[in-house]
Amino acid sequence: MTANPNPEPLHGEVYRPAPHVVLSANVPDPEAVYAEAARDLEGYWARRASELEWFKPWDRVLDDSKKPFYQWFVGGKTNIVHNALDRHVRTWRRNKLALIWEGENGDLRTFSYHALSREVCKFSVVLRSMGVSKGDRVTIYMPRIPETWIAMLACAKIGAVHSVVYGGFSVEALHGRIEDSASKLIITADGGYMGGKVVELKQIVDEALKRTAVAENVIVVKRTGKPVNMEAGRDFWYHELINLPLTRNMGKCETEAMDAEDPLFILYTSGTTGKPKAVLHTHGGYQVGVYATLKDVFDLKEEDRWWCTADPGWITGHSYIVYGPLLNGATSFMYEGGPSYPFPDRWWSMIAKYGISVFYTTPTAIRGLMRFGEAWPNRHDLSSLRLLGSVGEPINPEAWRWFHKHIGKEQCPIMDTWWQTETGGFMITPMPAVPTKPGSAAKPYPGVAVDIVDEQGKPVKPGEEGFLVLKKPWPAMLRTIYKDPERYVQTYWSKYPGMYLAGDSARRDEDGYFWIIGRVDDVIKVSGYRLGTAELESAFVSHPAVAETAVIGLPHEVKGIAIHAYVILRAGYEPSEALAEELRKHVAHEMGPIAKPEKIEFVKSLPKTRSGKIMRRVLKARAQGLSEGDLSTLEE
Ligand code: WTA
Repeated sequence: MTANPNPEPLHGEVYRPAPHVVLSANVPDPEAVYAEAARDLEGYWARRASELEWFKPWDRVLDDSKKPFYQWFVGGKTNIVHNALDRHVRTWRRNKLALIWEGENGDLRTFSYHALSREVCKFSVVLRSMGVSKGDRVTIYMPRIPETWIAMLACAKIGAVHSVVYGGFSVEALHGRIEDSASKLIITADGGYMGGKVVELKQIVDEALKRTAVAENVIVVKRTGKPVNMEAGRDFWYHELINLPLTRNMGKCETEAMDAEDPLFILYTSGTTGKPKAVLHTHGGYQVGVYATLKDVFDLKEEDRWWCTADPGWITGHSYIVYGPLLNGATSFMYEGGPSYPFPDRWWSMIAKYGISVFYTTPTAIRGLMRFGEAWPNRHDLSSLRLLGSVGEPINPEAWRWFHKHIGKEQCPIMDTWWQTETGGFMITPMPAVPTKPGSAAKPYPGVAVDIVDEQGKPVKPGEEGFLVLKKPWPAMLRTIYKDPERYVQTYWSKYPGMYLAGDSARRDEDGYFWIIGRVDDVIKVSGYRLGTAELESAFVSHPAVAETAVIGLPHEVKGIAIHAYVILRAGYEPSEALAEELRKHVAHEMGPIAKPEKIEFVKSLPKTRSGKIMRRVLKARAQGLSEGDLSTLEE
């Protein structure tokens, strides 16, 4: 692959896939598929859905009679676990590796499809015997270990709704999510290894449970073997439960037949205002969306070894670590720990060791590893790679080129995928046969209707920045916000009727390629992790010294965006370096280490509108020495 500075008809820095990439791609002629989906959206998705198995076929592909509460594959009966495991176990794939796992401490475990399915069966029997049934919510708070997969899949198998909370979140973040979902059961571990340290997950669960009475039981996976508090009658060891005679014999472990529209999981994500919201996804549409997007974009073949470096606790992990690869019958690799532990070539060494062929990561990770120089990747044989990917934040062209040159050795197309927790799967992305431009997520996936509009909802001209909207429904879309349908309508569908508001700003170039600029709401993408100013600010004010605070995101060389906080202290407290450090620790303890602010500034007042809303835009402009814009509504 070579950079062609000025090809016709595409403009700018364009990278064209080599002929063999196009010829062997799962989608060798993208234009034909774009056209098919544009012509007949429902027909396209029906064709893709029929590549999976259904207990009973759907009556209608799309029901938009209650929009924006769209329904897909209405009347169909299915279960995502049937397609992710059961159907493979009946074929030769029973002996194929589903998962290769390496712990940060060097532990190694592998699971064939048969073995993974067996473990999921055993654990689903445990869950049923503990009284978990269809529709119940279960919180999963785990390190990156195989049991995270098993827990998620066992919930789905019996029709329970999992709510995975990222293991990097801490006490208050976990507590709020347990309480809002009303989870009676928590699945966790004694700890996990991360960056050479043990993350004390069980201890955080204990602290979170002191703040709520909803959870009745905790199942604890032994990962580190470090002693933890086990409360009699409440806490149980995973390995003891799955070895009880009832479970060992796998009891009754059949896969529950679900309606296509039955909930599969909720996943909390930060929004514009207030508490994190629980985005709800369903069995039917979600499985079709993640299956098809992964197959087309990352071109998975039987012989591939796929590695998505995300954490199962985020949507990228749900869709493209756990469900998508299994739906495709693929072999995945998962690594427990940090990318530069013990040395900055840990990732590159594992690509060589396991022969990874398709590698999907984040701009933050690339920028972070780039700092150490190319000597580290150059020590390893990365020739197994054939395709690369990026997600989570805009990738700066410099990082893109480094990734392309030093990791992909100029042989591997880069799939820069734009999507969200809410969209379930890729929305704007190249496919291997589509030419790419560094920094652009290329074009909408087949059937996805993207536009960029101004304040009034009118499409802007090529090259102009505007709000990114989606104009047609898609199968893997969120169905609602759990327990709060009004907020679903309000957040996504009320600014422009009939259009889904993504919350990002973007522009489209003269070739129809999309360039994502960033969030236009109060979401901060720190190292690609999605955090909300509201949740961060409430973590601050839960400290006795803090009267009021405003949190903003400012550009950062590695993290993309970093958290800066302006704090007004209560009477009796004096600003000091020690207090700033104490507040940073407090926020990390309540929310999680990823939320640790970069910088805290003590101030006497905050810019507010007359109605009392903090003007973060003004703080941001001031901090960057930019024009503060229209201040006519400013009160103080
Ligand atoms: C951002 C992550 C630019 C964007 C899958 C979006 C991106 C938010 C990209 C969703 C990309 C994600 N280029 N920006 N390729 N991918 N984003 O819900 O701001 O954690 O709205 O889902 O991440 O974050 P979320």
